[in-house]
Amino acid sequence: MQTNVRPETMERITTKELAEAFIAEQIEEVRAQVGDRKVLLALSGGVDSSVVAALLIKAIGKQLICVHVNHGLMRKDESENVIKLFEGELDANLIYVDATDRFLDLLAGVSDPETKRKIIGKEFIEVFADEARKLEDVDFLAQGTIYPDILESIKQAEGKQAVKSHHNVGGLPEDLKFELVEPLKLLFKDEVRVVGEALGLPHAMVYRQPFPGPGLGVRCLGAITRDRLHALREADAILREEFDVCGLAEKVWQYFVIIPDIKSVGVKEESRFEGWPAIIRAVNTTDAMSATIEEIPYEILHKITKRITNEVEGINRVLYDITPKPTGTIEWE
Ligand code: XMP
Repeated sequence: MQTNVRPETMERITTKELAEAFIAEQIEEVRAQVGDRKVLLALSGGVDSSVVAALLIKAIGKQLICVHVNHGLMRKDESENVIKLFEGELDANLIYVDATDRFLDLLAGVSDPETKRKIIGKEFIEVFADEARKLEDVDFLAQGTIYPDILESIKQAEGKQAVKSHHNVGGLPEDLKFELVEPLKLLFKDEVRVVGEALGLPHAMVYRQPFPGPGLGVRCLGAITRDRLHALREADAILREEFDVCGLAEKVWQYFVIIPDIKSVGVKEESRFEGWPAIIRAVNTTDAMSATIEEIPYEILHKITKRITNEVEGINRVLYDITPKPTGTIEWE
């Protein structure tokens, strides 16, 4: 069994060659641990779970069963892209669960951010557990745990609380007992990315910006409604598209749209209408504990504003949040 402590002598994985050596070593270890048995993985499409999936597909092929749960709070085309890459290109054994209604029905009318997070986290585990129970002969659960997660759990065990509650599939119900497979658990994020590229995952996926577990759920402020969530998804897609075009996507650490539950009067085609504002957030940070804002050039802001207000139904203003952290957290909830 692998240790949970990174040896001081462990070399940092900074090159393709070092990543390939790591991959070869992990393939051996995983094969030795798993034999001919099956492994389950919750594949969100984030960097860590995607790298674990690609690594395990190399090591054990179809013995890996990936479950992708769409909680209805994903960004535009996100689930489709997970399916395209893992099922289409990497030939993964992938189960896709569209649980949108389950999540949105439970969240209806719930406005407190932490309650929303808890509902999403709990339901995620339940949906995943339901899928796991349908499967036979699965003995292992793979997780995209990385070294900062281990350090974070040590901090929590010492009584230092995380600021916002995060979720993963750590707390599965009692009847589901798996042995863990965590091939990235001694790696830092930058090393995971190098390993991901060495595994052949697309650059944009390996270097994609962080996306919180509760997804758009904490960016559709207050009680989530389907129409506002739809507007958020479309506006966010426009922002990401424009950031790709002008090169800011490569430079800015995290950038996204938030839609609050307020309306103001606007005017379109000579008639007045009430619409939501779309708020743009674009921040840079190294550890997410503090952050500065990206000074987006006005011409890009104008273009994004024009596109969002023209193309997204229900939005009549675009605002730009220039608050650093502190005092503003990166997310609004
Ligand atoms: P804040 O808003 O606390 O965010 O400044 C710091 C970083 O954490 C992310 N974040 C979350 N990630 N589940 C996650 O997996 C969450 O509930 C959550 N809340 C915030 C946020 O996107 C930022 O990168």
